[in-house]
Amino acid sequence: MATLTILNYPDPRLHTVAKPVVDVNAAIKQLIEDMAETMYAAPGVGLAATQVDHHVQLIVIDTTKEQNNLQVFINPKIIAKNGLTEYEEGCLSVPGVYELVTRAETVKVEALDKNGKKFILEADGLLAICIQHEMDHLLGKVFVEYLSPLKRNRIRKKLVKQAREVERNAY
Ligand code: NI
Repeated sequence: MATLTILNYPDPRLHTVAKPVVDVNAAIKQLIEDMAETMYAAPGVGLAATQVDHHVQLIVIDTTKEQNNLQVFINPKIIAKNGLTEYEEGCLSVPGVYELVTRAETVKVEALDKNGKKFILEADGLLAICIQHEMDHLLGKVFVEYLSPLKRNRIRKKLVKQAREVERNAY
């Protein structure tokens, strides 16, 4: 297992559209393990392959405090959604930023599990929000894109400045 580097907004690679996983092979299984380790170490409740610069339709989620319920979604599709809810979201690719985003309250998602077996899940609460947030990543969309251009620009500037400081400290 290995911890992977998480891309930070506004890295243009975060806007790559992920391709479907054709075969749940050993390389994908390794990527799942590495992504889970990366998410748990961060710590975060969800991570999309896009965020670790692998552009395949794969997400890992664990909304438990105990980090003992890893959920893997390969080639996820939302087949039904209902209601609207607002939640203050954060993202491992946008460190230190939390903003309200409106999403569907419940979703019904169809995906493959870590063994390539198809399943259908009805989700609500934080899990439903997380699924939608991570699926956006696979489309190349970061949650700050739901905010006003003014707010988004402020966040972009702040993160660019942060990244420069990290770079400077590296010398
Ligand atoms: Ni995110």
